[in-house]
Amino acid sequence: MNTKGFIFDLDGVIVDTAKYHYLAWKKLANGIGIDFTEVQNEHLKGVSRVNSLEKILAWANKTISEGQFMELMAKKNDNYLSYIAKMDEGEILPDVTETLDFLIKQKQPIALGSASKNAREILKKVNLFEKFDIIVDGNDVTEAKPNPEVFLIAANGLGIKPEDCIVFEDSVAGVQAANTAKMISVGIGQQEVLYEANDVFIDFTEMGTTYINELINK
Ligand code: BG6
Ligand code: MG
Repeated sequence: MNTKGFIFDLDGVIVDTAKYHYLAWKKLANGIGIDFTEVQNEHLKGVSRVNSLEKILAWANKTISEGQFMELMAKKNDNYLSYIAKMDEGEILPDVTETLDFLIKQKQPIALGSASKNAREILKKVNLFEKFDIIVDGNDVTEAKPNPEVFLIAANGLGIKPEDCIVFEDSVAGVQAANTAKMISVGIGQQEVLYEANDVFIDFTEMGTTYINELINK
């Protein structure tokens, strides 16, 4: 059987935390007099904490001191952590656990490739930590998505060539990162948003194991 590297993004792919990032950024932006819409939020998906705040400030033409910047980042994260504090397995997205178990059964190596510095904690909370052969997150990279660094480190850790890796992503930045890394990009979400991906599914239920088998045998 072929061996491919399967790399999963976390927020919005494995767990439904994209909504908590949105709520926390909205609260923060509104708190400093900046409007924040769901359309703008789409541009923050997959984007690191630093780059997200830079974008929000740039949209509003606002400049602040470095000290204030650090304070706002901490404030956003505290608020975000209050949302995820109560998380459990119920927040795993549909058929994610089944997909991971299917890959494990097929002896396919699995990595996490996330921009979040909270990734390890979240995986432990939802009891999925042990299913990953390697975890690469926001603490392990110097460049944020759409830079491919996170996925290239993951592929290297799995010992699989980038061309033989498949990335599951819900963000435009993440799909672009996977494409730049010359990996197969599979979008989880809406086709209109993730049109740069090789394939797009609304969720893992729609994807099914036939498609996964095709990826393995490609
Ligand atoms: C990504 C999310 O996975 O992680 C972004 O899509 C988030 O919304 C980024 O900003 C960084 O996360 P954290 O938890 O380190 O602030
Ligand atoms: Mg994501």
